[in-house]
Amino acid sequence: MFEILLGICCALSLVYVFLCIWRRRKRKPPPGPKGYLCCGNSFQIDADRIHHNLNQLREEFGTIYQLKLYGTSIINLSSASLLNDALETPPTDELANDRSANSTSDIFYGRKHMGCANLSSTTLLLREFHSSAIPRYFESEHYFELLIKEEVKKLHLNLISKPRCNINPHGYLRTYFKNMCSVLLIGESLPESDPEKDVPWEFIDHLFELIEPSVDGALRAFPFLRYLPGYYGDVYRRTIEARDKVAKRFFEEQKKTYTSDIRLRGLVDVCLKRQLDDNTKTGSTLLSDEHIKGFIFDTLAAGMTELLKSVRLFILLMCHYQDVQTHLQAEIDSIIGTERFPAVSDRMWMPYTDAVMLELWRYGSQTPLAIPHLCKKDVVLDGYFIEGGSVIFPNLYCIHHDPEIWGDPWDFRPERFLDSRGDLLPPDHNFIRNVIPFSVGKRACPGQDFARSRIFITITSLLQRVRVLPPENCDLPSADPRLYTRTFPLVEPQYECQIISRENIII
Ligand code: HEM
Repeated sequence: MFEILLGICCALSLVYVFLCIWRRRKRKPPPGPKGYLCCGNSFQIDADRIHHNLNQLREEFGTIYQLKLYGTSIINLSSASLLNDALETPPTDELANDRSANSTSDIFYGRKHMGCANLSSTTLLLREFHSSAIPRYFESEHYFELLIKEEVKKLHLNLISKPRCNINPHGYLRTYFKNMCSVLLIGESLPESDPEKDVPWEFIDHLFELIEPSVDGALRAFPFLRYLPGYYGDVYRRTIEARDKVAKRFFEEQKKTYTSDIRLRGLVDVCLKRQLDDNTKTGSTLLSDEHIKGFIFDTLAAGMTELLKSVRLFILLMCHYQDVQTHLQAEIDSIIGTERFPAVSDRMWMPYTDAVMLELWRYGSQTPLAIPHLCKKDVVLDGYFIEGGSVIFPNLYCIHHDPEIWGDPWDFRPERFLDSRGDLLPPDHNFIRNVIPFSVGKRACPGQDFARSRIFITITSLLQRVRVLPPENCDLPSADPRLYTRTFPLVEPQYECQIISRENIII
């Protein structure tokens, strides 16, 4: 009897040990650097150049690895196929597409917007306005292109206003993209005489100061700081004040003059129309006034900063790569010529320009870690166990600079995207599949078509009229992304250049 009981106990113990080993293997966490007790790997990461640090760790730990930052698991994903599995493929796509709350939650009236809100039907509806309303209402509207053309002309006049002088294009580009986003939202730009002309950038500058990791971290750990005098409270209050000015100019004034029979003036009217239609049909709507304001803030924050980053880097690269500029101008001259303004449809005949845009976004990787995603439940990815509550970094910078994919990732070489006949590579080519500046899946950039068309119009109309040259008597900073600092937003060095008019332009 005793032997039988002993046998059963041994068998049960063996089963238990086997189950433990099996569960542990099933819950195998991704590899990663060893950290220290509570702070994990926090002191091993250089916050100022985190994109570069994470790239070095990829070389050591592979395309999926884990860091611990003050108790939070950070999962770094550095391959396009892993990103597709995590963000685009069921069932993970329902679980890994949320966002972590941060100190901007109150600024957006309790996360009533897209960028930092969880995946919900309202988030999907707001995203829909970008991806379908922009082409439906605006890009097909003649008046929208006319307004944008006026802005392009003003930009060019400003850029050539000081011939033979070094200029920093940054300020002029800020005005240009502010007006472009304003036209998109409310159908008019903010002229110099408008007392509210600076409110969009005022708001965005404060917002980015607030989400700097040191400020955001302090305000999250000690929320009461926002109500006290001192630096943190000041940043917070200034952001709220600027937010209210934007809401007044872009929402309240628009709503006052909106009627159901009006010709839609911009995206804000599209939202107001939907709100009114919903209320008339069903007596309720997903789109509260606060959601529409959140939509405006997102469009300004993402639109103005991302478009500015692209064109600012483009001009710097053109200063460095005069041969690329000459090639681009030859394509512009032959397809568009000098007598008409570029049209979005010209793009399909201009593979070299397309290749330059792809290389600009690959090389610069202006949103190196996309917007971090929150994984709301446990998932298994590539055989590794990711626990619920982990933050996923879609590491676009690593993918865009993986030497195994690109061979020479640190060279700026648009030709890599062209075949031997000079045509753009097909969509299934490894290079095209691995250039994903707008990320992938349910939270991929909803403004990407607008961004592509605006960057195309801006750079072609610019080079149609002007030649960009390095500055005289001062150094041109390097454009090498390994030298950029601060991840969010990634800032390449400010620079000066010379911009001179080309001959024979008659538009
Ligand atoms: C070259 C320019 C741009 C680049 C490289 C870019 C890139 C990105 C990336 C990587 C994300 C994060 C995706 C993710 O979390 O996985 C994003 C999100 C977003 N972008 Fe863009 N973007 C650009 C321009 C724009 C423009 C012009 C707009 C609006 C007019 C816009 C609106 C947004 C919004 C609203 C989100 C948040 C979406 C969400 O959380 O669901 N972006 N963008």
